[in-house]
Amino acid sequence: MRVLFLAWVAFADCKSSVNRHEIRKIPDGILFGTATASYQVEGAWNEDGKSESIWDRLTHSTPCPVKNCDTGDIADDSYHQYERDVEMLRELGLDFYRFSLSWTRILPTSFPDKINEKGVEYYNNLIDEMLKYNIQPMVTLYHWDLPQKLQDMGGWTNPHVVDWFTDYARIVFELFGDRVKYWFTINEPREVCYEGYGGPSLAPLYNMTGYADYMCAKNILVAHAKTYHMYKNEFSKIQGGTVGIAISANWFEAESEKEAEAAEEARQFEWGTYINPIFSKNGDFPAVMKERVAAKSFEQGFFRSRLPEFSPEEVELIKGSSDFLGINHYTSKLIYRNASLTSDTYPSPSFYDDMGVMSYYDSTWESGVSSWLKIVPWGFYNLLTKLRTDYDNPPIYITENGFSTYEGLEDDSRISYYRQYIDAMLDAVDEGSDVRAYTAWSLMDNFEWLQGYANRFGLYEVDYEDPKRTRTARKSAYVYKEMLRTRQLDYHYEPDTTLPITIDEGH
Ligand SMILES: *[C@@H]1O[C@H](CO)[C@@H](O)[C@H](O)[C@H]1NC(C)=O
Repeated sequence: MRVLFLAWVAFADCKSSVNRHEIRKIPDGILFGTATASYQVEGAWNEDGKSESIWDRLTHSTPCPVKNCDTGDIADDSYHQYERDVEMLRELGLDFYRFSLSWTRILPTSFPDKINEKGVEYYNNLIDEMLKYNIQPMVTLYHWDLPQKLQDMGGWTNPHVVDWFTDYARIVFELFGDRVKYWFTINEPREVCYEGYGGPSLAPLYNMTGYADYMCAKNILVAHAKTYHMYKNEFSKIQGGTVGIAISANWFEAESEKEAEAAEEARQFEWGTYINPIFSKNGDFPAVMKERVAAKSFEQGFFRSRLPEFSPEEVELIKGSSDFLGINHYTSKLIYRNASLTSDTYPSPSFYDDMGVMSYYDSTWESGVSSWLKIVPWGFYNLLTKLRTDYDNPPIYITENGFSTYEGLEDDSRISYYRQYIDAMLDAVDEGSDVRAYTAWSLMDNFEWLQGYANRFGLYEVDYEDPKRTRTARKSAYVYKEMLRTRQLDYHYEPDTTLPITIDEGH
């Protein structure tokens, strides 16, 4: 991510603080949970018939691309420790747990010709253990661990991925849909496409921005929509579940009033790419994006836009193909357009060259271990307000929100982050935002992609020196638990962390 540290302080004409309520009632009806993802926690990368995913391939390549040469080979060993994981969900008193399925664990050939019973058994055990205690599974079909075989055939840039993905989804609905009622097709298409195919920061590190990221964006949206309609047409009557998508949306604030248009373009490029086709009245990629990429492409000597078009049938297929909007939100940036922006500013062609704006973090914003993760709760409020007004107030599931620290159980900065962000979310709810669920990222420390295990996001700390990967509740786990138990946000609550965190009656 490009960061420019500028000496001046941002204009304060935007809403730069949310109402802070020392004690605040949390409305009934909002479900609370935590999330993880298969590659980040499961380990057992080649056990019981599982085949190779793009993250197995990447973490095993030389020179190792991940910090400290960490891999997810063992990760949190959740493949063997799911009972402890569910125990933690009970300790926290959660309504739900959001986890993802490993495609290569269920379908080792990538295709439906061979179902791996052992892999299926693992997910059956996890789901059944949760349901025993009335904890709802919220299941993501794809959280970044594509079968390597499909990658060798182009992965998300190959239009055949639409069939590959819907076939996999069909198997998953047949196997688990009797018990799973909340589905997410894809986690963060923007990161899959931009970071994985455009940039070199997530597997498969394609680094072909301005082409491959756009091809991926089209295919992933069609794959999502076909899966949604398959569920609606063939499964929903019997299974009665709900299907959506989890889109990453950070907030992009105009540096000053005259940068309003630049900030809006940043939002449209960064998340409108995925939200607009599904949730806007007219569907399709955002108009500004279609026009900009087409114009730039012709200027550059291309015969057609580098942004692939949707056919009218595809626009209709994708429009409305979600029962709710899942949002992963972490932070905010300031946006401006630099008159001296040239083709040297960003590589050309590229996604960022097409977007054509500059971004930076206000130097007064605090962050933790991850320099990109600035604490800007009012950005969360602004985002939720914008989604409510622009997309006709869709049901929103906050599918990720969280903060990173170093190891250590005293994580007051994480507690402060959660309190301020949930407070900001409730401001939007008070004004009418239809937020149905809130998910803390993450239940426990886990493999943070190219950052390995250096950045800790867990309510529970995981001891990576210990072969058993012992999990211990951080202070934030006590605070989250108390917030859900009392359904009250209280900035002054101090837990007694000398007492063990235990399972309450009824959990
Ligand atoms: C990605 O591509 C750009 C432009 O072609 C190049 O300058 C850069 O070195 C590449 N980065 C990696 C990590 O391959």
